[in-house]
Amino acid sequence: MSKTIFITGTSSGLGKLTAKHFAQQGWNVAATMRSPEKETELTQYPNIKIFKLDVTNLQQVKTATEQAISAFGKIDVVVNNAGMGTYGALELAKEADIDWQFAVNTHGPINIIRAFLPHFRHNGGGLFINISSFMGVTTAAPLGSLYNMSKFALEGLTEGLYYELKPLNIELRLIEQGGSTDNNFVDSVVWNENPEITAYDELTAKLKHLFNTADDSHKDNPAVIVNAIYDLATGKSSKFRTVIGNMGNMLMTMRSTMPIEEYMEKMASMF
Ligand SMILES: NC(=O)c1ccc[n+]([C@@H]2O[C@H](COP(=O)([O-])OP(=O)(O)OC[C@H]3O[C@@H](n4cnc5c(N)ncnc54)[C@H](OP(=O)(O)O)[C@@H]3O)[C@@H](O)[C@H]2O)c1
Repeated sequence: MSKTIFITGTSSGLGKLTAKHFAQQGWNVAATMRSPEKETELTQYPNIKIFKLDVTNLQQVKTATEQAISAFGKIDVVVNNAGMGTYGALELAKEADIDWQFAVNTHGPINIIRAFLPHFRHNGGGLFINISSFMGVTTAAPLGSLYNMSKFALEGLTEGLYYELKPLNIELRLIEQGGSTDNNFVDSVVWNENPEITAYDELTAKLKHLFNTADDSHKDNPAVIVNAIYDLATGKSSKFRTVIGNMGNMLMTMRSTMPIEEYMEKMASMF
């Protein structure tokens, strides 16, 4: 019998590619997104069903999870993929943007995990795959503290939950990816800006330049990430943390082998 995967944030990027890949491999896919009325591609697949879901909206979380379970009978794997990035100096951030960063990247997965736990307990097990970032395990640049916070928190949530869910045969995995060659994520970044405070202008310009000019050799191919998700979902890999790409592996190796002061000094010297 076909297995079923539930994915958040499938309107673009990694979420959409993951939905297509699993459908092509014969899985049933509950593809969720904030604006299903705009979707034209995933609707072409007979084994993909689309559900409206903003991960910050508890009523939509309840409805989408209930509808997906009712449509497919059983959900085997849940991918917490939906995410966004708020960049820029913390001093310049709007309260609403600070809250939103946490609401989408951290509280969103909490909402989804809590909604699926009764179903997974009923089934005797299940798998959550949380899409994090190497910015959730290490830091490497200025002006990303809010994004770092949201993904570090996702890492802590996932690692902490591991111990309470393992006895229930409910597993958790993390994907540590970096910048993607499709660039959707960078294009939708929310920048903290205040024209009256210029103290961070130079750093901001440098970071924007880095985002806009990084060549593809420093980024991850989303297809590689999709394959890593597939290996986790099918049990081919049971790694708790899967680090994708040269950049992520290099930074994580440096972070784990150098004294933290030396590591941060080295990163800061690049700006
Ligand atoms: N690409 C990178 O540079 C990078 C690096 C490290 C980690 N990541 C992580 O990878 C994941 C996927 O990102 P991506 O690269 O595929 O970027 P993306 O193309 O921008 O995809 C983000 C997805 O999240 C959805 N989303 C945003 N807010 C949402 C909300 N409140 N509720 C439900 N869905 C929401 C977006 O939907 P809408 O169309 O409705 O906005 C979109 O489908 C994210 O968790 C991101 O943090 C990305």
